[in-house]
Amino acid sequence: MSSLFPNLFSPFQMKGLEIRNRIFSSGHDTDLARGGIPTDELIAYHVARARGGVGLIVVQVVAVHDSARYTSEVLQGADDDCIPHFSRLFDAIHREGAAAFVQLFHPGRELAARRDGAVMPAWGVSQAPSERFKVVAKTMSTDEIGEIISGYGDAARRMAAAGVDGVEIVGSHGYLPSQFLSPSINFRTDEYGGNPENRRRFVDEVIQSIRSTCPEELIVGARLSGDEFDSGGLDEDAMFEICRNLAPSLDYLNVIAGTSASSGGSVHIVPPMTVSNGYMAPFSAKLKQAVGPTAVLVAGRINQPQDAEKIVREGAADMCGMTRAMICDPRMPAKASLGQVDDIRACIGCNQACIGHAQLGLPISCIQYPESGRELRFAEKPRAEVSRRVLVVGGGPAGMKAAITAAETGNSVTLWERSSRLGGQALLAQALPNREEFGGIINNLEGELRRAGVSVSLNSEFDQPNCSEFSPDAVVLATGSRRWMPPIEGGEGVEILHHEDILAGAKTGQRVVIYDWRTDWIAIGMAELLSQSGADVRLAVNGVCPGFAIQNYVRDAAIARLYRLGVETTAFMRLYGAEDRTVYFVHTAAQEPVVLEDVDTLVVVPPNQPEVGPADWLKSSGIPYRIIGDALAPRTAEEAVYEGLTATLELLT
Ligand SMILES: Cc1cc2nc3c(=O)[nH]c(=O)nc-3n(C[C@H](O)[C@H](O)[C@H](O)COP(=O)(O)O)c2cc1C
Ligand code: SF4
Repeated sequence: MSSLFPNLFSPFQMKGLEIRNRIFSSGHDTDLARGGIPTDELIAYHVARARGGVGLIVVQVVAVHDSARYTSEVLQGADDDCIPHFSRLFDAIHREGAAAFVQLFHPGRELAARRDGAVMPAWGVSQAPSERFKVVAKTMSTDEIGEIISGYGDAARRMAAAGVDGVEIVGSHGYLPSQFLSPSINFRTDEYGGNPENRRRFVDEVIQSIRSTCPEELIVGARLSGDEFDSGGLDEDAMFEICRNLAPSLDYLNVIAGTSASSGGSVHIVPPMTVSNGYMAPFSAKLKQAVGPTAVLVAGRINQPQDAEKIVREGAADMCGMTRAMICDPRMPAKASLGQVDDIRACIGCNQACIGHAQLGLPISCIQYPESGRELRFAEKPRAEVSRRVLVVGGGPAGMKAAITAAETGNSVTLWERSSRLGGQALLAQALPNREEFGGIINNLEGELRRAGVSVSLNSEFDQPNCSEFSPDAVVLATGSRRWMPPIEGGEGVEILHHEDILAGAKTGQRVVIYDWRTDWIAIGMAELLSQSGADVRLAVNGVCPGFAIQNYVRDAAIARLYRLGVETTAFMRLYGAEDRTVYFVHTAAQEPVVLEDVDTLVVVPPNQPEVGPADWLKSSGIPYRIIGDALAPRTAEEAVYEGLTATLELLT
């Protein structure tokens, strides 16, 4: 047992099952299933987490019926043929000492999937339209409700036959069970609607269906939102009552928050860095007092063992979901139990490559740890046959990951950074409001550099004489990108600043227009910073909306903040010129002029340009080299770190 975290690493008994500690990986879509069944990639993904010490893995959603195809690659539990495939997954998790549960799922009206190119008709409780996916469902008949209820029971029986320890009904996030529970969605007048007892009937019958078809020892739990955080949805009081009533027929309740049905509610499906750590623990604590022997699990931005230990120690929950914490560092539990807390690569809640990938239909990964989701290719790195003297130039995320990778494969590695600090563009990100946690990527990579034994030289300029003197066997150029300003017609009578000027302390006038070419987090941060300092801010976006290029829960949380600050936004703007307190744009869709008047300061948030200086003479030097990250083409930290891994492996192995 860990002396630092004695409660977190104490075993937990759920029904007949002993779980080795209190950490679980909650159900999350990986896009690593194919044809409805687990792939070798999905198995390797979960084996890495089980080997890393997690107590329980709740495997991602399994569709219980043909109408529950949530995505084209959802796991399917509607046919007996699936049993041997799931056995491989559950056996692999068990072999590493972790327990295995699986989620049983029907999205109801929250369905955007296509079949043969056409949007499928959603099976819903009633015709209440879904705001976010613009769905009006077909209302299920009583027979169809019966078919879905049997589908849960049959899918659970198949999972039990495949060796799973428990099943979890996904009643959270506005999916089908919670649509039955919600008076603003369930307009039925039959025995499944009309009063709280009738609205609960569907979930009660699903539980009965599972219990009656499965072995007695199978654990049956439900995931429920403790608050949908939607003005038309189920609030904390309503959810508390629902949980209290369902608890006696369940072995556990797994608390999270939010609903898929609205923009503000969906932010809580994967809460970004602006949401406080462990924010649902007060609800789970209250629930635990009320539901007696039923176990209570909680998740939501619990990304450090210290927080999880506190939750378990204070009796706020029996187990803590630490899902992104282990997407980012599969060995987080093992490191915590050994007291190696500083070695943990902490998740920063950016949502970029985990849920961001899932929403793009791409396999799961992590911006800080591109090995995640790519375990079969990268978890075991080849060792260099002969150790080489590797020089990495540039100390941003790309260069840091390149240096770590080169050192981990058995080379002698030196990193030169021209400035006095490591971090590159990530230093800028962490300087913006509501983006501070992004700086965690620098701390994490710095720690990894140290542990990998990389020699770091700050204030070190890379040029031909210095390189010749150092005499490297291979070079990785990660020199990043530099600031750039687009040509702007006119320029008299309006102060024009670059966003980096603002971060360096430049002051604006009262009436500010921000031109956002990037549609990422920078212009949002600028708008927040300047509004908070008292300026009147208008945001002219070269795209559909602010944050269009970033993950939509991060974006929507930001749009809510901009709205509250009173920032006026205009979409489809291309900057043309600025003169005499007026800024001129072209509407990119209409191709017509747009004029914003009464402007003191224009803040431009343009793209960067690659900083490739030394590459020319390096080419003729005969030294093997690679250019990576922004130095190759300015993109995000995700590509920087990914290329730090992949290009370095290509160069050295
Ligand atoms: C890529 C990804 C996919 C997810 N898919 C699901 C899902 O299918 N079912 C579910 O209940 N939650 C899903 N979630 C939410 C997680 O289970 C979890 O509640 C959320 O990430 C917050 O916990 P964390 O802060 O520990 O990551 C998903 C999360 C991520 C990152
Ligand atoms: S991509 Fe960001 S949010 Fe997702 S696991 Fe990695 S650090 Fe965490």
